[in-house]
Amino acid sequence: MASTQEDPLTSTQISTVTADPRGLIFIEPSAFADMDDWHAAVAELRQDSPVVRVEAEGWTPFWAILRHADVTEVSRRSDVLLNTERSAPAPDAQYDILAALGLEMPATLVHLHGEAHFKYRQVTSDWFKPAAVKGLQPVVDVIAEEYANRLVELGGRCDFASDIAIPFTTRVIMSIFGIPQSDEQLMLELTQGLFGAGDPEFLGEFSDPGALVADTIEKFSAYFDDLTADRRAHPTGDLATVIANGEIDGAPLGSAERLWYYIIVATAGHDTTSYAISGGLEVLLRNPEQLQDLQEDPSLRFNAAEEIIRWTSPVRSFFRWAQEDVELKSGIQIPEGDVVLTCYPSANRDEAVPRTS
Ligand code: HEM
Repeated sequence: MASTQEDPLTSTQISTVTADPRGLIFIEPSAFADMDDWHAAVAELRQDSPVVRVEAEGWTPFWAILRHADVTEVSRRSDVLLNTERSAPAPDAQYDILAALGLEMPATLVHLHGEAHFKYRQVTSDWFKPAAVKGLQPVVDVIAEEYANRLVELGGRCDFASDIAIPFTTRVIMSIFGIPQSDEQLMLELTQGLFGAGDPEFLGEFSDPGALVADTIEKFSAYFDDLTADRRAHPTGDLATVIANGEIDGAPLGSAERLWYYIIVATAGHDTTSYAISGGLEVLLRNPEQLQDLQEDPSLRFNAAEEIIRWTSPVRSFFRWAQEDVELKSGIQIPEGDVVLTCYPSANRDEAVPRTS
């Protein structure tokens, strides 16, 4: 990868960029334990260069894209910077173990591109249109009320993430999905098995993250096979019914496609939102004047929600694979076959983005 134009911050050509050991913070789970330290280190990297070359043992080498304009452009160039079955940054061994166990490679919306992505997305797209989401408001309000009451009952002291944010967001997503309350804990554990496999807290009886991921996928598969059979026999108005009976080009979704559809909806919705809510509360408590502004003027809540998502950036990154040589508007050149990492938390704190207020 190279840049053809002078970089305003470094005044150097980044064609000279070589692997930077500091880039390990983009993939080392422990580096994310203290996000203040992480952001300080990434701000330094961002000042030095718009991209960082990362070469880590067991990983496909990649370029971490750090600035907002570049991450936005990479996200939009889905014609040449493709999602693949390895879109979720992970060590190669984690994918190899799936293949070795004969499991299907991930094929969710974040792993597909082109026409397959478009058609696959259409199966549920009506469910995620603004009017449909608005229609869910009464359901969400009831659940929100319940958790607001629980917060009061806890008497001013609790573990907000595990007592409120996680069960609240899980309940919202599972009620949309149509998964009974009695299975929410299982869904939560399986989500942690998939997304938190690199975290020793979630490893449990497993010796390595790959084995935990493989076991999790098998459990998801068994659960969703039963759900499919049920919703085909007894369709309801829930999202699980849409997926169970979903068709592409007039044919039912294949079993792997269906499984991964369930998995992305069952996991992506609550992991992200619970992190945003608990991270948002933490930052408000650390900035009491902003909390007070919000308490005094509740109309700020819409901006606050956007700002909290920006600040917490619950999704860290995805990989995109260059299908051909690509040049970004900033001059960064990505050679065919190379991999870029879209670093959302970095882009969301890029000093070059003008403040709106
Ligand atoms: C704060 C909350 C959330 C954040 C920060 C977030 C972030 C993201 C990001 C960065 C992507 C990748 C976009 C790209 O490829 O350019 C994505 C994709 C996706 N997210 Fe979320 N998300 C959130 C909530 C949700 C919820 C609530 C759901 C489902 C109920 C969801 C389901 C999905 C799906 C299905 C995709 C793939 C879309 C596609 O490729 O067509 N996400 N999300």
